[in-house]
Amino acid sequence: MSTAQQRKYLVTGGAGYVGSVVAAHLLEAGHRVTVLDDLSTGHRAGVPRGAEFIEGRIQDAAKWLDPSYDGVLHFAAFSQVGESVVNPEKYWVNNVGGTTELLAAMRDAGVRTLVFSSTAATYGEPDQVPITEDLPTAPTNPYGASKLAVDHMISGECAAHGLAAVSLRYFNVAGAYGAHGERHDPESHLIPLVLQVAQGRREAISVYGDDYPTPDGTCVRDYIHVADLAEAHLLALDAALPGGAADRGVRPGEHLICNLGNGNGFSVREVIETVRQVTGHPIPEIAAPRRGGDPAVLVASAERAKERLGWRPTRADLAGIVADAWKFAEARRRESE
Ligand SMILES: NC(=O)c1ccc[n+]([C@@H]2O[C@H](COP(=O)([O-])OP(=O)(O)OC[C@H]3O[C@@H](n4cnc5c(N)ncnc54)[C@H](O)[C@@H]3O)[C@@H](O)[C@H]2O)c1
Repeated sequence: MSTAQQRKYLVTGGAGYVGSVVAAHLLEAGHRVTVLDDLSTGHRAGVPRGAEFIEGRIQDAAKWLDPSYDGVLHFAAFSQVGESVVNPEKYWVNNVGGTTELLAAMRDAGVRTLVFSSTAATYGEPDQVPITEDLPTAPTNPYGASKLAVDHMISGECAAHGLAAVSLRYFNVAGAYGAHGERHDPESHLIPLVLQVAQGRREAISVYGDDYPTPDGTCVRDYIHVADLAEAHLLALDAALPGGAADRGVRPGEHLICNLGNGNGFSVREVIETVRQVTGHPIPEIAAPRRGGDPAVLVASAERAKERLGWRPTRADLAGIVADAWKFAEARRRESE
């Protein structure tokens, strides 16, 4: 398939969960995609068919980036919060150091459009919900701090060298898109963990704290379907590319930061109950004490993404998100049998 406006993109981290779904959307829209991934946490099989694949590090992006690229979508990072607490240097070296090299390679190649995966973890524990982009950033772990440092780095790059950039601050990404879904190892995200219980690969799910000031006492999070998230990336490119959506355009020199979430919170108990309903399996729970740094409620305001990118999430229904993730988890289980 080709479109009138076929573009060529470098997708760093395109063998991982979110990057592979976005790469698949770009290909379906008729664009050319090169995935650059060192497979440190990603999987070769995750790279969508039709993408060129380079097994390599963003630290060496200058070897491959050239002026034929219209833009870069930058997903490559380490993203395990717990690991970042015990091994923070790994996060600074890869997430921040790696992006320094990537930005230099983009500068040298004259590639002036960037979409970056930022995170709700940049806000830390805000005392106001829904969370807007103008709230103070105060990450509570080195992972969040490293992503915030990259956001600052990108702002400087825009101001000094005319990059047009969009940072998308994802809340809890969930669900699957066809053959692409979550397969983090170790898994730390709630929905795939509860699905592992449904599959009998884990005995029970730990519920960390049931005395929060929320309707059922458990933490509330904003789950966004990975396909909704992917659509936001295509809109962000459209806004930031020269000749893109002129009315909402992100001009060279501008760094637009947008939250991506549904604006709807679901509690840990609601997620577990939804998994019970979708899978038909009982899900034993273990009551565990609160974890430090877990705020009661994290819900996004995505008004800015709606206004500036024209984005609308259309898959906000938790049962649908869980059903897609379950289909993916079951397909993987059958493959491995
Ligand atoms: N999944 C979420 O809920 C979530 C939420 C907020 C932000 N994010 C951000 O989205 C991005 C993607 O997350 P994900 O869940 O898909 O993680 P993932 O681990 O599945 O994907 C990251 C990919 O980057 C690759 N990578 C890491 N360092 C690299 C390097 N130096 N050079 C080349 N490739 C490298 C890995 O091999 C992997 O394929 C990350 O930047 C993460 O911080 C994710």
